[in-house]
Amino acid sequence: MFRHTRIALLAASLATFPAGLPAATATPLELHPKPEVDLPVGDDVGFPEGPGSDVIASNCTACHSADHTLNQPALSRDEWRKVVDKMIAAYKAPITSEDARTIVDYLDRVKGER
Ligand code: HEC
Repeated sequence: MFRHTRIALLAASLATFPAGLPAATATPLELHPKPEVDLPVGDDVGFPEGPGSDVIASNCTACHSADHTLNQPALSRDEWRKVVDKMIAAYKAPITSEDARTIVDYLDRVKGER
């Protein structure tokens, strides 16, 4: 008799368990105010303005900073083309071949080996 009661209780608690879950996790969330962040703005961040700077900025800052590109030693046009090709081939950067050409032109002008 007693045993049957236990089984009935167990069945009942199993049946209500999923419904009981939200109640268990419904502790009120403590909302924190949005932190204030001063992002650097101005002409001194990102790629220097010039023909193609918008193209390189929109294609080459998704995965790393503009500085990551600009802090490289000056490279020849051919070497820049290889870097851009590597971003596309190895890291799957979604860059059209037209944009890639504009970017190589830009890099050659701004960080070209002279
Ligand atoms: C899909 C992500 C992604 C995009 C988009 C991307 N890169 Fe990279 N890039 C990487 C990774 C990953 C590395 C290698 C890791 C590191 O050096 O921090 C890298 C490294 C570099 C380096 C360092 C030298 C080297 O060969 O590793 C340069 C320069 C560079 N990227 C330039 C560019 C340029 C220019 C573009 C736009 C044409 C670009 N990246 C777009 C992912 C990306």
